This record gives sequence, C-alpha cells and structure tokens, in this order.
Amino acid sequence: MIDLHSHILFGIDDGAKDIEMSLAMARLAVADGTTHIACTPHFMPGVYENNVPAITKLIATLEIAFLEKNINLTLIRGGDIHIAPDIAEKLSNGSLPTLGKSKYFLFEPPHHVVPPGVMQLCKGIMNAGYMPVLTHPERLTWIEKNYKLICALDELGVVVQITAGSITGTFGKRSQYWSERMLDEGRVDIIASDAHNIRSRPPGLSRARDVVAKRLGEAAATLMVKVNPDCILQNLPVSPKPERHVIEPKSEKKGFLARMGFE
Ligand SMILES: [Fe+2]
Repeated sequence: MIDLHSHILFGIDDGAKDIEMSLAMARLAVADGTTHIACTPHFMPGVYENNVPAITKLIATLEIAFLEKNINLTLIRGGDIHIAPDIAEKLSNGSLPTLGKSKYFLFEPPHHVVPPGVMQLCKGIMNAGYMPVLTHPERLTWIEKNYKLICALDELGVVVQITAGSITGTFGKRSQYWSERMLDEGRVDIIASDAHNIRSRPPGLSRARDVVAKRLGEAAATLMVKVNPDCILQNLPVSPKPERHVIEPKSEKKGFLARMGFE
C-alpha cells in the first residue's frame, strides 16, 4: 500500500519527535503492509516554517537509518501545505513541495474556518498545472454547514483524501459519519494515515482498507490505498469516480425549530 500523507519526519512539526519515533512509525507502517510513505510535514506560515532543502536533507538522513536498520520502506518527499493565496507561485518556483515528482500536492484547508475563495484558488492552481489533494475534509469542523463546498471541490476535480482513522472511528463518530457518507457518495480518491506518532495517530491503512472493502468491495478499497496513490506518484490522472450521488441520511434529525416548520 502507498500512504501519501504522514508526519514521519522527525523534529520539524507536531509529528515524530525524534529519529527513534520515525523509525518506530516506519516499522509499524511496514508491518501493516505499507511499501511507500510520503513525508508530508506541515507548511504553515507563522506556525511551521518548513522549507524544501531542510526536508530533503532529513529524508536522506532517515533513508540512511532505514538502510542501517533494515527497514524496507520507500520515502517520498511532500508537504502538508496549508491554504495560502500564493501556492501556485511557490509550487512553480520550488519553494513548496509536490508529492514526489508529480504535480499533485497536499492541500490543507483551515480546520475551523471556511476558506473564502477556495474554489477560485483551486481553479487558479489547476490552471497553473498543479492538482490539489484535499486533506481530510471529513474532520473539518465546518463540513456540516458547508458540505456543498466540499462536493463542489470534488466535482471540480480536486482529489479527495480521507484519513484512515476517520473510517475506523479513531476520530469519533462525526468524522466516521462524514467519511462513510463521502465513501458511499463516491467522492473519495485516496485513503492516507496522516500519522503523527505511534500511539494516538499511528501509521497503517489496512484496517480502513478492510472496512472499505466490506462496504464498497475489494476493487474500490485497492483503488484508494494503492492504484490511485500510484497514479498520483506517476503523475497520471486518478481513476474516474463512480457516478456521484448525494445521500440524504435518515439519521440527520432536524432541530426543534425545523420540526415546528420555523426554519
Ligand atoms: Fe497532516
């Protein structure tokens, strides 16, 4: 399996604290069946001021440690790139990293605020020849009120990444509900771990893969953990999604005012 989102690089964000933790995370990933993992530290101005040369150097250090410790895991350079107006410009001048040598990159929206102008921003980025991979929409606190925006981004062609832990319930019922809904609506392109450590947010895709296989079939599960991530690394288009259909869940209870017909 290919995991395109992780914070396995040590000492540069809220992921692995030191090289020992990076190695422990790598061992867990390998044991779970991961062959390739993208190192995608945060690029968030004012919070995590990472840069491409520094992460390239850290990846080389970790690769040497893998050789010494016999860890058979391929590292791919990337970044968890927080939304910013100058993303296209910085991708083209090399100051922000894409995933490997592709034109795809992880695109992280703010967790608690709807990003204004995100459709226009994505259109501009795509016109510049890059492809956003929207990270974990199912965990955003604004998804309930703005699900149409997530759907519009999906329909624009933005690649949608769901977190493995959301599917298995690690992030709670809410993220699980939204991940299931997006899976059932045919909106998910890839599953990634977004691993940060070895305990609360460990690497590994197999449990989520199994849940998806039961829900949507083996082929769909393989598509999300292997085929599509591989297409991304080869800079090929991801597989077309099935026809999307919006689900109106029965369980969505209306509030008191709505039941009384006031909203
Ligand atoms: Fe992340």
